[in-house]
Amino acid sequence: MNIRTIATRPFSDQKPGTSGLRKKVPAFQQPHYLENFVQSIFDSVSAPKGSTLVLGGDGRYYNRTAIQIILKMAAANGFGQVLVGRGGILSTPAASCVIRKYQAFGGIILSASHNPGGPDGDFGIKFNGSNGGPATEAVTDTIFAKSKALSSYRILEAADVPLDSLCETTLGDMQVKVIDPVSDYADLMESLFDFAAIRSLLQGSFKIKFDAMHAVNGPYAREILERRLGAASGSVMNAVPLEDFGGGHPDPNLTYAHDLVEIMYGADAPDFGAASDGDGDRNMILGKRFFVTPSDSLALLAANATLVRGYAGGLAGVARSMPTSAAVDRVAHALDIPCFETPTGWKFFGNLMDAGKVTLCGEESFGTGSSHVREKDGLWAVLFWLNILAVRKQSVEIIVREHWARFGRNFYSRYDYEGLPTEAANGVMQHLRDSFATLAGTAFGRYSIQTCDDFSYTDPVDGSISKGQGVRILFGDGSRIIFRLSGTGTEGATLRVYLEAFEADVSRHPLDAQEALKELIGIALHVSELQTRTGREQPTVIT
Ligand code: G1P
Ligand code: ZN
Repeated sequence: MNIRTIATRPFSDQKPGTSGLRKKVPAFQQPHYLENFVQSIFDSVSAPKGSTLVLGGDGRYYNRTAIQIILKMAAANGFGQVLVGRGGILSTPAASCVIRKYQAFGGIILSASHNPGGPDGDFGIKFNGSNGGPATEAVTDTIFAKSKALSSYRILEAADVPLDSLCETTLGDMQVKVIDPVSDYADLMESLFDFAAIRSLLQGSFKIKFDAMHAVNGPYAREILERRLGAASGSVMNAVPLEDFGGGHPDPNLTYAHDLVEIMYGADAPDFGAASDGDGDRNMILGKRFFVTPSDSLALLAANATLVRGYAGGLAGVARSMPTSAAVDRVAHALDIPCFETPTGWKFFGNLMDAGKVTLCGEESFGTGSSHVREKDGLWAVLFWLNILAVRKQSVEIIVREHWARFGRNFYSRYDYEGLPTEAANGVMQHLRDSFATLAGTAFGRYSIQTCDDFSYTDPVDGSISKGQGVRILFGDGSRIIFRLSGTGTEGATLRVYLEAFEADVSRHPLDAQEALKELIGIALHVSELQTRTGREQPTVIT
Protein backbone atom coordinates (compact mmCIF):
# COMPACT_ATOMS: atom_id res chain seq x y z
CA MET A 1 0.00 0.00 0.00
CA ASN A 2 1.41 3.32 -1.02
CA ILE A 3 0.15 6.00 1.34
CA ARG A 4 1.69 9.36 0.67
CA THR A 5 1.85 12.30 3.04
CA ILE A 6 1.69 15.47 0.97
CA ALA A 7 2.98 18.74 2.39
CA THR A 8 0.49 21.57 2.01
CA ARG A 9 -0.21 25.09 3.19
CA PRO A 10 -3.47 26.10 4.83
CA PHE A 11 -6.13 28.10 3.02
CA SER A 12 -7.73 30.84 5.09
CA ASP A 13 -11.19 30.64 3.50
CA GLN A 14 -12.44 27.17 4.33
CA LYS A 15 -15.09 28.20 6.82
CA PRO A 16 -18.22 26.07 6.36
CA GLY A 17 -21.38 28.17 5.88
CA THR A 18 -25.05 27.39 6.40
CA SER A 19 -24.55 24.03 4.71
CA GLY A 20 -20.89 23.06 4.33
CA LEU A 21 -18.13 24.65 2.30
CA ARG A 22 -19.37 26.24 -0.93
CA LYS A 23 -17.09 27.78 -3.53
CA LYS A 24 -16.85 28.21 -7.26
CA VAL A 25 -15.50 25.12 -9.05
CA PRO A 26 -12.18 26.84 -9.93
CA ALA A 27 -11.57 27.43 -6.21
CA PHE A 28 -11.92 23.70 -5.56
CA GLN A 29 -9.64 22.99 -8.53
CA GLN A 30 -6.72 24.83 -6.94
CA PRO A 31 -3.97 22.37 -6.02
CA HIS A 32 -4.60 20.83 -2.56
CA TYR A 33 -7.78 22.86 -1.92
CA LEU A 34 -10.23 19.95 -1.74
CA GLU A 35 -7.63 17.67 -0.14
CA ASN A 36 -6.96 20.19 2.64
CA PHE A 37 -10.63 20.44 3.52
CA VAL A 38 -11.16 16.68 3.44
CA GLN A 39 -8.13 16.13 5.70
CA SER A 40 -9.50 18.80 8.06
CA ILE A 41 -12.77 16.86 8.21
CA PHE A 42 -11.00 13.55 8.91
CA ASP A 43 -8.78 15.18 11.56
CA SER A 44 -11.83 16.73 13.24
CA VAL A 45 -14.12 13.73 13.38
CA SER A 46 -11.51 11.09 14.37
CA ALA A 47 -13.23 8.04 12.93
CA PRO A 48 -12.16 4.77 14.60
CA LYS A 49 -10.01 2.61 12.31
CA GLY A 50 -12.12 0.47 9.98
CA SER A 51 -15.15 2.79 10.05
CA THR A 52 -17.70 2.98 7.24
CA LEU A 53 -18.13 6.20 5.32
CA VAL A 54 -20.94 7.07 2.89
CA LEU A 55 -19.92 9.14 -0.11
CA GLY A 56 -21.89 10.73 -2.92
CA GLY A 57 -22.84 13.99 -4.51
CA ASP A 58 -25.50 15.60 -6.64
CA GLY A 59 -23.61 14.78 -9.83
CA ARG A 60 -22.60 18.31 -10.68
CA TYR A 61 -19.41 19.16 -12.52
CA TYR A 62 -16.29 18.10 -10.53
CA ASN A 63 -18.27 15.46 -8.60
CA ARG A 64 -16.45 12.56 -10.24
CA THR A 65 -12.99 14.02 -9.76
CA ALA A 66 -13.70 14.87 -6.13
CA ILE A 67 -15.10 11.40 -5.38
CA GLN A 68 -11.92 9.69 -6.59
CA ILE A 69 -9.74 12.00 -4.49
CA ILE A 70 -11.86 11.50 -1.37
CA LEU A 71 -11.87 7.71 -1.81
CA LYS A 72 -8.08 7.64 -1.90
CA MET A 73 -7.87 9.93 1.11
CA ALA A 74 -10.39 7.81 3.04
CA ALA A 75 -8.24 4.74 2.34
CA ALA A 76 -5.15 6.57 3.58
CA ASN A 77 -6.97 7.76 6.71
CA GLY A 78 -7.97 4.34 7.98
CA PHE A 79 -11.57 3.89 6.83
CA GLY A 80 -12.55 0.26 6.35
CA GLN A 81 -15.35 0.70 3.86
CA VAL A 82 -16.90 3.41 1.74
CA LEU A 83 -20.42 3.10 0.34
CA VAL A 84 -20.63 5.20 -2.83
CA GLY A 85 -23.73 5.93 -4.87
CA ARG A 86 -23.53 4.57 -8.44
CA GLY A 87 -21.68 7.08 -10.63
CA GLY A 88 -20.73 8.87 -7.41
CA ILE A 89 -24.28 10.17 -7.16
CA LEU A 90 -26.51 10.29 -4.09
CA SER A 91 -29.24 12.79 -3.36
CA THR A 92 -28.72 14.51 -0.02
CA PRO A 93 -31.72 12.83 1.64
CA ALA A 94 -30.68 9.46 0.19
CA ALA A 95 -27.19 9.94 1.65
CA SER A 96 -28.77 10.60 5.02
CA CYS A 97 -30.96 7.52 4.60
CA VAL A 98 -27.98 5.32 3.68
CA ILE A 99 -25.84 6.56 6.61
CA ARG A 100 -28.62 5.65 9.01
CA LYS A 101 -29.61 2.37 7.40
CA TYR A 102 -26.06 0.96 7.31
CA GLN A 103 -25.07 2.58 10.62
CA ALA A 104 -22.12 4.27 9.00
CA PHE A 105 -19.74 6.47 10.95
CA GLY A 106 -20.83 9.36 8.77
CA GLY A 107 -20.81 10.63 5.23
CA ILE A 108 -19.35 13.19 2.90
CA ILE A 109 -21.86 14.87 0.61
CA LEU A 110 -20.73 16.82 -2.42
CA SER A 111 -23.22 19.45 -3.43
CA ALA A 112 -23.86 23.13 -3.79
CA SER A 113 -27.57 22.36 -3.52
CA HIS A 114 -29.64 24.74 -5.64
CA ASN A 115 -26.71 26.81 -6.93
CA PRO A 116 -25.90 26.51 -10.65
CA GLY A 117 -23.22 23.99 -11.68
CA GLY A 118 -20.72 23.55 -14.51
CA PRO A 119 -17.05 24.52 -14.86
CA ASP A 120 -17.78 28.08 -13.69
CA GLY A 121 -20.61 27.12 -11.36
CA ASP A 122 -20.58 26.21 -7.70
CA PHE A 123 -19.36 23.15 -5.85
CA GLY A 124 -19.66 22.19 -2.21
CA ILE A 125 -18.73 19.63 0.40
CA LYS A 126 -20.02 18.82 3.84
CA PHE A 127 -19.76 16.16 6.51
CA ASN A 128 -22.76 14.41 8.04
CA GLY A 129 -22.53 12.44 11.26
CA SER A 130 -23.80 8.98 12.19
CA ASN A 131 -27.32 10.30 12.76
CA GLY A 132 -27.35 11.15 9.03
CA GLY A 133 -27.47 14.89 9.65
CA PRO A 134 -25.15 17.79 8.91
CA ALA A 135 -22.33 18.24 11.39
CA THR A 136 -23.16 20.55 14.27
CA GLU A 137 -21.61 23.99 14.57
CA ALA A 138 -19.11 22.69 17.11
CA VAL A 139 -17.80 20.22 14.50
CA THR A 140 -17.79 22.70 11.61
CA ASP A 141 -15.92 25.18 13.82
CA THR A 142 -13.29 22.51 14.54
CA ILE A 143 -13.00 21.72 10.83
CA PHE A 144 -12.40 25.40 10.11
CA ALA A 145 -9.82 25.67 12.90
CA LYS A 146 -7.95 22.60 11.60
CA SER A 147 -8.06 23.91 8.04
CA LYS A 148 -6.25 27.05 9.14
CA ALA A 149 -3.34 25.10 10.58
CA LEU A 150 -3.06 22.13 8.22
CA SER A 151 0.45 21.24 7.02
CA SER A 152 -0.09 17.91 5.28
CA TYR A 153 -2.68 15.43 4.11
CA ARG A 154 -2.68 11.69 3.47
CA ILE A 155 -3.66 10.06 0.21
CA LEU A 156 -3.27 6.62 -1.27
CA GLU A 157 -1.48 6.38 -4.57
CA ALA A 158 -3.75 4.18 -6.64
CA ALA A 159 -5.70 4.01 -9.88
CA ASP A 160 -9.24 5.39 -10.04
CA VAL A 161 -12.01 3.09 -8.89
CA PRO A 162 -14.86 2.04 -11.23
CA LEU A 163 -18.11 3.62 -10.04
CA ASP A 164 -20.61 3.07 -12.83
CA SER A 165 -21.82 -0.42 -11.96
CA LEU A 166 -22.80 -2.03 -8.69
CA CYS A 167 -19.50 -3.60 -7.68
CA GLU A 168 -17.00 -3.93 -4.88
CA THR A 169 -13.34 -3.07 -5.23
CA THR A 170 -10.49 -2.60 -2.81
CA LEU A 171 -8.41 0.47 -2.39
CA GLY A 172 -5.44 -0.38 -0.15
CA ASP A 173 -7.03 -1.93 2.95
CA MET A 174 -10.38 -0.30 2.26
CA GLN A 175 -13.42 -1.70 0.48
CA VAL A 176 -15.32 0.47 -1.96
CA LYS A 177 -18.89 -0.67 -2.46
CA VAL A 178 -20.94 0.96 -5.19
CA ILE A 179 -24.58 0.94 -4.16
CA ASP A 180 -27.87 1.58 -5.96
CA PRO A 181 -28.74 5.08 -4.82
CA VAL A 182 -32.43 4.72 -5.45
CA SER A 183 -33.64 1.46 -3.93
CA ASP A 184 -32.84 2.09 -0.23
CA TYR A 185 -34.47 5.49 -0.43
CA ALA A 186 -37.54 4.26 -2.30
CA ASP A 187 -38.01 1.47 0.25
CA LEU A 188 -37.92 4.00 3.08
CA MET A 189 -40.60 6.08 1.34
CA GLU A 190 -42.74 2.99 0.86
CA SER A 191 -42.56 2.34 4.61
CA LEU A 192 -43.90 5.82 5.42
CA PHE A 193 -46.65 6.39 2.88
CA ASP A 194 -49.67 4.50 1.64
CA PHE A 195 -48.43 3.65 -1.84
CA ALA A 196 -51.63 1.72 -2.67
CA ALA A 197 -53.79 4.79 -1.98
CA ILE A 198 -51.49 7.06 -3.97
CA ARG A 199 -51.40 4.53 -6.83
CA SER A 200 -55.16 4.49 -7.09
CA LEU A 201 -55.22 8.32 -7.06
CA LEU A 202 -52.66 8.49 -9.86
CA GLN A 203 -54.39 5.86 -11.94
CA GLY A 204 -57.64 7.82 -11.99
CA SER A 205 -58.06 11.18 -13.68
CA PHE A 206 -55.62 12.92 -11.27
CA LYS A 207 -52.57 14.15 -13.19
CA ILE A 208 -49.19 15.17 -11.80
CA LYS A 209 -46.00 16.76 -13.09
CA PHE A 210 -42.68 16.56 -11.28
CA ASP A 211 -39.78 18.71 -12.46
CA ALA A 212 -36.43 17.18 -11.52
CA MET A 213 -34.70 20.24 -13.02
CA HIS A 214 -32.00 18.07 -14.71
CA ALA A 215 -30.75 17.32 -11.21
CA VAL A 216 -30.21 14.40 -8.90
CA ASN A 217 -33.84 13.47 -8.18
CA GLY A 218 -34.71 12.43 -11.76
CA PRO A 219 -33.96 8.72 -11.27
CA TYR A 220 -35.55 8.68 -7.80
CA ALA A 221 -38.72 10.36 -9.06
CA ARG A 222 -39.00 8.05 -12.05
CA GLU A 223 -38.61 4.96 -9.90
CA ILE A 224 -41.04 6.11 -7.22
CA LEU A 225 -43.66 8.16 -9.08
CA GLU A 226 -43.73 6.41 -12.44
CA ARG A 227 -42.66 2.84 -11.67
CA ARG A 228 -43.80 2.14 -8.11
CA LEU A 229 -46.83 4.48 -8.09
CA GLY A 230 -47.92 4.18 -11.71
CA ALA A 231 -48.01 7.88 -12.66
CA ALA A 232 -48.27 8.31 -16.44
CA SER A 233 -44.93 8.01 -18.18
CA GLY A 234 -43.58 11.53 -18.72
CA SER A 235 -44.98 12.74 -15.40
CA VAL A 236 -41.37 13.32 -14.41
CA MET A 237 -39.77 15.99 -16.58
CA ASN A 238 -36.12 17.06 -16.92
CA ALA A 239 -35.38 13.66 -15.41
CA VAL A 240 -31.81 13.07 -16.58
CA PRO A 241 -29.21 14.50 -14.17
CA LEU A 242 -26.72 16.72 -16.00
CA GLU A 243 -23.39 18.06 -14.74
CA ASP A 244 -24.52 21.63 -15.40
CA PHE A 245 -28.26 21.06 -14.78
CA GLY A 246 -28.85 21.91 -18.44
CA GLY A 247 -27.50 25.40 -17.84
CA GLY A 248 -30.35 26.09 -15.42
CA HIS A 249 -30.53 27.19 -11.83
CA PRO A 250 -31.79 24.07 -10.04
CA ASP A 251 -33.79 25.89 -7.39
CA PRO A 252 -37.46 24.92 -7.15
CA ASN A 253 -39.25 28.25 -6.91
CA LEU A 254 -41.58 30.23 -9.17
CA THR A 255 -38.65 32.02 -10.82
CA TYR A 256 -36.31 29.15 -11.63
CA ALA A 257 -38.68 26.20 -12.10
CA HIS A 258 -40.26 28.04 -15.03
CA ASP A 259 -40.84 24.94 -17.21
CA LEU A 260 -43.07 23.52 -14.53
CA VAL A 261 -44.72 26.84 -13.67
CA GLU A 262 -45.75 27.30 -17.33
CA ILE A 263 -47.40 23.90 -17.32
CA MET A 264 -49.12 24.35 -13.95
CA TYR A 265 -50.48 27.78 -14.90
CA GLY A 266 -51.27 26.82 -18.51
CA ALA A 267 -54.36 25.43 -20.18
CA ASP A 268 -55.24 21.90 -19.10
CA ALA A 269 -52.88 22.08 -16.12
CA PRO A 270 -52.27 18.92 -14.10
CA ASP A 271 -53.81 18.66 -10.63
CA PHE A 272 -50.52 18.61 -8.78
CA GLY A 273 -47.05 19.89 -9.61
CA ALA A 274 -43.77 19.71 -7.75
CA ALA A 275 -40.07 20.29 -8.24
CA SER A 276 -36.89 19.61 -6.33
CA ASP A 277 -33.42 21.13 -6.36
CA GLY A 278 -29.87 20.20 -7.38
CA ASP A 279 -29.32 17.70 -4.57
CA GLY A 280 -32.96 16.71 -4.06
CA ASP A 281 -33.60 18.10 -0.61
CA ARG A 282 -35.77 21.11 -1.48
CA ASN A 283 -39.31 21.01 -2.82
CA MET A 284 -41.90 23.29 -4.35
CA ILE A 285 -45.57 22.29 -4.24
CA LEU A 286 -48.13 23.58 -6.75
CA GLY A 287 -51.78 22.91 -7.36
CA LYS A 288 -53.58 23.76 -10.58
CA ARG A 289 -52.70 27.47 -10.98
CA PHE A 290 -51.95 27.60 -7.27
CA PHE A 291 -48.69 28.04 -5.35
CA VAL A 292 -48.23 26.68 -1.83
CA THR A 293 -45.65 28.64 0.17
CA PRO A 294 -43.13 26.37 1.92
CA SER A 295 -44.17 27.79 5.28
CA ASP A 296 -47.82 26.93 4.60
CA SER A 297 -46.80 23.52 3.30
CA LEU A 298 -45.07 22.70 6.59
CA ALA A 299 -48.10 23.85 8.57
CA LEU A 300 -50.42 21.85 6.39
CA LEU A 301 -48.39 18.64 6.62
CA ALA A 302 -48.38 19.03 10.39
CA ALA A 303 -52.15 19.58 10.51
CA ASN A 304 -52.82 16.54 8.32
CA ALA A 305 -50.05 14.24 9.53
CA THR A 306 -52.27 11.70 11.24
CA LEU A 307 -53.89 10.92 7.87
CA VAL A 308 -50.54 9.48 6.77
CA ARG A 309 -49.43 6.02 7.88
CA GLY A 310 -45.90 6.89 9.00
CA TYR A 311 -47.23 9.70 11.19
CA ALA A 312 -50.57 8.25 12.26
CA GLY A 313 -49.46 8.12 15.89
CA GLY A 314 -49.16 11.93 15.98
CA LEU A 315 -46.20 14.29 16.10
CA ALA A 316 -43.82 14.67 19.03
CA GLY A 317 -43.33 18.31 18.09
CA VAL A 318 -42.48 20.57 15.17
CA ALA A 319 -39.65 22.96 14.42
CA ARG A 320 -39.10 25.77 11.96
CA SER A 321 -36.19 28.05 11.22
CA MET A 322 -36.58 31.55 12.63
CA PRO A 323 -37.38 33.31 9.32
CA THR A 324 -39.99 30.67 8.39
CA SER A 325 -43.55 31.92 8.91
CA ALA A 326 -45.35 31.13 12.14
CA ALA A 327 -48.12 29.23 10.31
CA VAL A 328 -46.88 25.95 11.81
CA ASP A 329 -46.86 27.51 15.30
CA ARG A 330 -50.63 27.88 15.06
CA VAL A 331 -51.04 24.23 14.14
CA ALA A 332 -48.74 23.16 16.99
CA HIS A 333 -50.80 25.24 19.36
CA ALA A 334 -54.03 23.58 18.18
CA LEU A 335 -52.46 20.12 18.43
CA ASP A 336 -50.97 21.00 21.81
CA ILE A 337 -47.46 19.92 20.80
CA PRO A 338 -44.18 21.85 21.21
CA CYS A 339 -42.92 24.12 18.44
CA PHE A 340 -39.23 25.09 18.26
CA GLU A 341 -37.73 28.12 16.51
CA THR A 342 -34.16 27.46 15.36
CA PRO A 343 -31.56 29.41 13.37
CA THR A 344 -31.46 28.99 9.61
CA GLY A 345 -29.91 25.74 8.36
CA TRP A 346 -30.86 22.11 8.76
CA LYS A 347 -28.08 21.31 11.20
CA PHE A 348 -30.08 22.82 14.06
CA PHE A 349 -32.94 20.34 13.68
CA GLY A 350 -30.77 17.25 14.22
CA ASN A 351 -30.42 17.49 18.01
CA LEU A 352 -34.17 18.04 18.41
CA MET A 353 -34.97 15.00 16.29
CA ASP A 354 -32.32 12.80 17.95
CA ALA A 355 -33.81 13.72 21.33
CA GLY A 356 -37.29 12.77 20.11
CA LYS A 357 -38.60 16.31 20.58
CA VAL A 358 -39.56 16.92 16.97
CA THR A 359 -41.08 14.85 14.15
CA LEU A 360 -41.61 17.45 11.39
CA CYS A 361 -39.51 20.49 10.59
CA GLY A 362 -39.09 22.98 7.81
CA GLU A 363 -37.70 26.18 6.40
CA GLU A 364 -39.21 28.90 4.26
CA SER A 365 -36.48 28.19 1.71
CA PHE A 366 -38.44 25.28 0.22
CA GLY A 367 -37.16 22.75 2.74
CA THR A 368 -39.40 20.31 4.60
CA GLY A 369 -38.53 17.10 6.35
CA SER A 370 -39.07 14.72 9.22
CA SER A 371 -37.19 12.45 11.55
CA HIS A 372 -37.15 9.64 8.94
CA VAL A 373 -33.74 11.09 7.93
CA ARG A 374 -31.71 14.07 9.15
CA GLU A 375 -31.85 16.19 6.00
CA LYS A 376 -34.69 18.00 4.37
CA ASP A 377 -36.27 15.81 1.76
CA GLY A 378 -37.83 16.98 -1.50
CA LEU A 379 -39.49 13.79 -2.72
CA TRP A 380 -40.67 12.90 0.76
CA ALA A 381 -42.61 16.19 0.87
CA VAL A 382 -44.15 15.41 -2.53
CA LEU A 383 -45.23 11.95 -1.37
CA PHE A 384 -46.62 13.37 1.88
CA TRP A 385 -48.77 15.75 -0.17
CA LEU A 386 -49.87 13.00 -2.55
CA ASN A 387 -50.83 10.82 0.40
CA ILE A 388 -52.94 13.63 1.89
CA LEU A 389 -54.54 14.30 -1.49
CA ALA A 390 -55.30 10.59 -1.89
CA VAL A 391 -57.05 10.52 1.49
CA ARG A 392 -58.84 13.87 1.38
CA LYS A 393 -59.83 13.71 -2.29
CA GLN A 394 -59.90 17.52 -2.57
CA SER A 395 -57.81 19.84 -4.69
CA VAL A 396 -54.59 21.41 -3.42
CA GLU A 397 -56.21 24.83 -3.50
CA ILE A 398 -59.26 23.80 -1.48
CA ILE A 399 -57.13 22.04 1.12
CA VAL A 400 -54.97 25.16 1.56
CA ARG A 401 -57.96 27.53 1.70
CA GLU A 402 -59.63 25.35 4.31
CA HIS A 403 -56.40 25.42 6.29
CA TRP A 404 -56.31 29.23 6.21
CA ALA A 405 -59.96 29.43 7.21
CA ARG A 406 -59.23 27.32 10.28
CA PHE A 407 -55.85 28.70 11.34
CA GLY A 408 -55.66 32.13 9.69
CA ARG A 409 -53.30 33.04 6.86
CA ASN A 410 -49.68 34.06 7.33
CA PHE A 411 -48.95 36.12 4.20
CA TYR A 412 -45.30 35.57 3.45
CA SER A 413 -42.59 36.61 1.03
CA ARG A 414 -38.80 36.75 0.88
CA TYR A 415 -36.81 39.39 -1.01
CA ASP A 416 -33.24 38.46 -1.93
CA TYR A 417 -30.66 41.08 -2.85
CA GLU A 418 -27.86 38.99 -4.36
CA GLY A 419 -24.26 39.89 -5.16
CA LEU A 420 -24.09 43.03 -3.01
CA PRO A 421 -20.78 44.55 -2.02
CA THR A 422 -20.05 42.94 1.35
CA GLU A 423 -19.49 46.28 3.06
CA ALA A 424 -22.84 47.69 1.96
CA ALA A 425 -24.67 44.57 3.12
CA ASN A 426 -22.88 44.60 6.48
CA GLY A 427 -23.69 48.31 6.70
CA VAL A 428 -27.43 47.63 6.41
CA MET A 429 -27.26 45.02 9.16
CA GLN A 430 -25.21 47.25 11.44
CA HIS A 431 -27.53 50.18 10.85
CA LEU A 432 -30.49 48.02 11.86
CA ARG A 433 -28.76 46.84 15.02
CA ASP A 434 -27.89 50.44 15.88
CA SER A 435 -31.58 51.38 15.45
CA PHE A 436 -33.05 48.79 17.85
CA ALA A 437 -33.49 51.26 20.71
CA THR A 438 -35.26 53.90 18.62
CA LEU A 439 -37.39 51.44 16.62
CA ALA A 440 -39.01 49.63 19.53
CA GLY A 441 -42.40 51.21 20.20
CA THR A 442 -42.51 53.09 16.88
CA ALA A 443 -45.75 52.93 14.87
CA PHE A 444 -45.97 52.85 11.05
CA GLY A 445 -49.57 53.08 9.86
CA ARG A 446 -51.42 50.09 11.28
CA TYR A 447 -48.17 48.37 12.31
CA SER A 448 -46.37 49.12 15.52
CA ILE A 449 -43.01 47.64 16.42
CA GLN A 450 -43.01 45.72 19.65
CA THR A 451 -39.40 44.54 19.87
CA CYS A 452 -36.26 44.25 17.77
CA ASP A 453 -33.37 41.90 18.38
CA ASP A 454 -30.57 39.89 16.86
CA PHE A 455 -31.79 36.30 17.06
CA SER A 456 -29.84 34.06 19.38
CA TYR A 457 -30.58 30.37 19.95
CA THR A 458 -29.83 28.14 22.86
CA ASP A 459 -30.04 24.51 21.81
CA PRO A 460 -32.47 22.90 24.29
CA VAL A 461 -30.61 19.58 24.03
CA ASP A 462 -26.92 20.42 24.41
CA GLY A 463 -27.16 24.02 25.62
CA SER A 464 -24.93 25.38 22.84
CA ILE A 465 -25.56 29.01 21.92
CA SER A 466 -25.66 30.41 18.37
CA LYS A 467 -25.65 34.18 18.21
CA GLY A 468 -26.14 36.72 15.43
CA GLN A 469 -28.66 34.63 13.50
CA GLY A 470 -30.64 37.49 11.94
CA VAL A 471 -32.26 40.79 12.86
CA ARG A 472 -35.91 40.51 13.86
CA ILE A 473 -38.41 43.34 13.86
CA LEU A 474 -41.49 42.04 15.60
CA PHE A 475 -44.86 43.81 15.44
CA GLY A 476 -47.66 43.78 17.98
CA ASP A 477 -50.04 41.79 15.73
CA GLY A 478 -47.58 38.95 15.10
CA SER A 479 -46.29 40.37 11.82
CA ARG A 480 -42.52 40.24 11.35
CA ILE A 481 -39.70 41.57 9.23
CA ILE A 482 -36.41 39.68 9.34
CA PHE A 483 -33.06 40.69 7.83
CA ARG A 484 -30.32 38.11 7.37
CA LEU A 485 -27.13 37.65 5.42
CA SER A 486 -26.95 34.43 3.43
CA GLY A 487 -24.39 31.84 4.47
CA THR A 488 -24.41 29.86 1.22
CA GLY A 489 -23.49 32.42 -1.44
CA THR A 490 -20.19 32.32 -3.27
CA GLU A 491 -20.07 35.87 -4.65
CA GLY A 492 -20.29 39.06 -2.61
CA ALA A 493 -23.07 39.17 -0.04
CA THR A 494 -26.72 38.21 -0.32
CA LEU A 495 -29.12 40.05 1.92
CA ARG A 496 -32.44 38.37 2.58
CA VAL A 497 -35.50 40.26 3.78
CA TYR A 498 -38.31 38.04 5.08
CA LEU A 499 -41.81 39.53 5.39
CA GLU A 500 -44.74 38.06 7.22
CA ALA A 501 -48.19 39.43 8.01
CA PHE A 502 -50.84 37.47 9.87
CA GLU A 503 -54.45 37.73 8.69
CA ALA A 504 -57.29 36.07 10.57
CA ASP A 505 -60.06 37.59 8.40
CA VAL A 506 -61.12 35.00 5.79
CA SER A 507 -62.48 37.68 3.45
CA ARG A 508 -58.90 38.96 3.03
CA HIS A 509 -57.34 35.53 2.40
CA PRO A 510 -57.70 35.64 -1.40
CA LEU A 511 -55.45 38.73 -1.53
CA ASP A 512 -52.21 38.43 -3.45
CA ALA A 513 -49.30 38.11 -0.99
CA GLN A 514 -47.37 41.04 -2.49
CA GLU A 515 -50.47 43.18 -2.17
CA ALA A 516 -51.09 42.12 1.41
CA LEU A 517 -47.45 42.75 2.34
CA LYS A 518 -47.08 46.11 0.61
CA GLU A 519 -47.07 48.18 3.76
CA LEU A 520 -44.57 45.92 5.52
CA ILE A 521 -42.25 46.03 2.50
CA GLY A 522 -42.33 49.82 2.67
CA ILE A 523 -41.44 49.71 6.37
CA ALA A 524 -38.61 47.24 5.73
CA LEU A 525 -37.02 49.44 3.07
CA HIS A 526 -37.48 52.54 5.18
CA VAL A 527 -35.99 51.30 8.44
CA SER A 528 -33.08 49.47 6.80
CA GLU A 529 -32.10 52.25 4.36
CA LEU A 530 -31.44 49.29 2.08
CA GLN A 531 -31.94 51.11 -1.20
CA THR A 532 -29.66 54.05 -0.42
CA ARG A 533 -27.03 51.93 1.26
CA THR A 534 -26.80 49.30 -1.49
CA GLY A 535 -27.91 51.31 -4.52
CA ARG A 536 -30.41 48.53 -5.34
CA GLU A 537 -33.96 49.52 -6.20
CA GLN A 538 -35.25 45.99 -6.71
CA PRO A 539 -34.51 42.58 -5.23
CA THR A 540 -32.86 39.98 -7.48
CA VAL A 541 -35.39 37.29 -6.60
CA ILE A 542 -38.73 37.35 -4.82
CA THR A 543 -40.07 34.09 -3.44
C1 G1P B 1 -30.17 28.93 2.40
C2 G1P B 1 -31.54 28.93 3.04
C3 G1P B 1 -31.56 28.03 4.25
C4 G1P B 1 -31.10 26.63 3.86
C5 G1P B 1 -29.76 26.70 3.14
C6 G1P B 1 -29.34 25.34 2.60
O1 G1P B 1 -29.22 29.41 3.33
O2 G1P B 1 -31.94 30.23 3.38
O3 G1P B 1 -32.84 28.00 4.78
O4 G1P B 1 -30.98 25.81 4.98
O5 G1P B 1 -29.84 27.62 2.04
O6 G1P B 1 -30.26 24.83 1.68
P1 G1P B 1 -28.69 30.92 3.33
O7 G1P B 1 -28.14 31.20 1.95
O8 G1P B 1 -29.89 31.78 3.59
O9 G1P B 1 -27.67 30.96 4.43
ZN1 ZN C 1 -30.49 21.42 -1.69
